[in-house]
Amino acid sequence: MQNRLMHDGASLTFLDAILRHKGEASEVTERFRRLSHAQKEDLFQFLRSL
Ligand code: HEM
Repeated sequence: MQNRLMHDGASLTFLDAILRHKGEASEVTERFRRLSHAQKEDLFQFLRSL
C-alpha cells in the first residue's frame, strides 16, 4: 500500500486523511469524530483492505 495519502502526499495515516476532509466532506469528518474507538478501528480495517 502507498504510505502517503491525499493528492499532496501530506497525510501519513488514515486518521490524518479523514480529519483533513473539509468543504462538502466536512459532514463525514464530524460523523467520524462521533464514532467509538472500536467503530474507528473497524473503519481503518476496512480502508486497509482496499
Ligand atoms: C466514510 C467516509 C470517508 C472516508 C473514510 C474517506 C477516506 C478517505 C481517504 C483515506 C482518502 C485518501 C485517499 C488516498 O490518498 O489514497 C480520501 C480522499 C478524498 N476524499 Fe474521502 N473519505 C470519506 C468520505 C468522503 C466524502 C463524503 C467526500 C466528498 C464529498 C470525500 C472526498 C474526498 C476527496 C476529494 C479526496 C481526495 C483529496 C485529495 O487528494 O486531496 N471523501 N478520503
